[in-house]
Amino acid sequence: MRIVITGGAGFIGSALVRHLLGESGHEVHVLDKLTYASTLASLESVSDNPRYGFTQADICDAAAVKGVLERVDPDVIVHLAAESHVDRSIDGPGAFIETNVVGTYVLLQAARAHWENLPEPRRSGFRFHHVSTDEVFGALTDDGYFTEDTAYDPRSPYSASKAASDHLVRAWWHTYGLPITMTNCSNNYGPYHFPEKLIPLMIVKALAGEPLPVYGRGENVRDWLYVDDHARAIRAVFEQAAPGSTYNVGGRAERKNIEVVQGVCEALDRLRPRADAKPYAEQISFVTDRPGHDFRYAIDCRRIEQDLGWAQTETFESGLLKTVGWFLDNEDWWRTILERSYTGQRLGLKQP
Ligand code: NAD
Ligand code: DAU
Repeated sequence: MRIVITGGAGFIGSALVRHLLGESGHEVHVLDKLTYASTLASLESVSDNPRYGFTQADICDAAAVKGVLERVDPDVIVHLAAESHVDRSIDGPGAFIETNVVGTYVLLQAARAHWENLPEPRRSGFRFHHVSTDEVFGALTDDGYFTEDTAYDPRSPYSASKAASDHLVRAWWHTYGLPITMTNCSNNYGPYHFPEKLIPLMIVKALAGEPLPVYGRGENVRDWLYVDDHARAIRAVFEQAAPGSTYNVGGRAERKNIEVVQGVCEALDRLRPRADAKPYAEQISFVTDRPGHDFRYAIDCRRIEQDLGWAQTETFESGLLKTVGWFLDNEDWWRTILERSYTGQRLGLKQP
């Protein structure tokens, strides 16, 4: 199949591209605006692959999106392009509305025009797969899990914009018959993770000898999934699932943030002990909480396990060790980001 992947130069998108080119025969074309969050270095290993193509374009630019779909003539569109960082959505929600809501609308219209002109059987086989987040379901207390039927209750500008995009995607299925599928996934981590997010930020700050900023008391809970397991889940859904269907994807790996940061410190103690031989955990520092900080996310992923036979391959412990090892072995990748686009400063404190 020919697949257009929006946001393919980002963290999860690039993992999906590497997975598809490495493990399937699909052709892959990345459509990406190349915002601050992207790195073409994440795609370097596939750049010479004859089944790989790339166009720099904004999903809000209808003419550019139409041009890519006409040239590539895809059987599948996987939509990952988004503004993805909750803290940045607190500081500047506008970009989240533009890309996540308006951009998704523009892409849906272009996908619909493309799909309506496809001959059978390509028309019935076509899929628009939307990659979304568990954050659309709001926040849990100590008990319970998000299922595919949980009511939407987004609370941050980021999650509200993703919820809006989910509603648009479902509306294009119900109203126009566009054959969509969707996944709502929990927190990803792994190689090529942009160092504004918790795990990579803690790794790079620990190595720099800086304080490790844990919001509040570090009691908030997230459900962690290794990024390559997410890539396999996305592929299973767009290859196998019925049009109109939605699947939750999660790691069965709930951890308090403080446990995650301690885990990062322990992995570093093992792989790159501090020069003074003291534990990295000494650098942990509790800081002002994130405004509107959702307490707990946890995914019930039985539907994708039962229907499609998907399962995680990494435990949190094995995945975290691999991730810390990757960051130690790939300093050039993240040092370039720290020099060019983000220096690790605190974000999301509601500054004007
Ligand atoms: P990311 O921020 O690492 O990458 C986003 C990519 O989208 C970047 O390459 C960026 O250049 C591109 N992009 C942004 N605006 C664009 C625009 N207007 N036009 C074209 N390209 C644009 O994000 P990520 O963490 O890889 O997340 C990918 C998707 O998965 C997002 O939709 C996100 O909501 C969703 N998701 C992320 C997680 C997670 O834990 N990271 C979990 C569940 C769902
Ligand atoms: O749940 C899926 C979501 O996971 C995705 O939709 C988002 O795109 C992705 O960014 C992620 O959102 P979170 O807000 O959960 O991820 P983040 O890494 O920003 O934060 C994880 C937790 O760690 C959260 O409770 C806030 C906390 N945190 C974060 C940072 C950056 C800290 O304590 N200190 C920090 O410096």
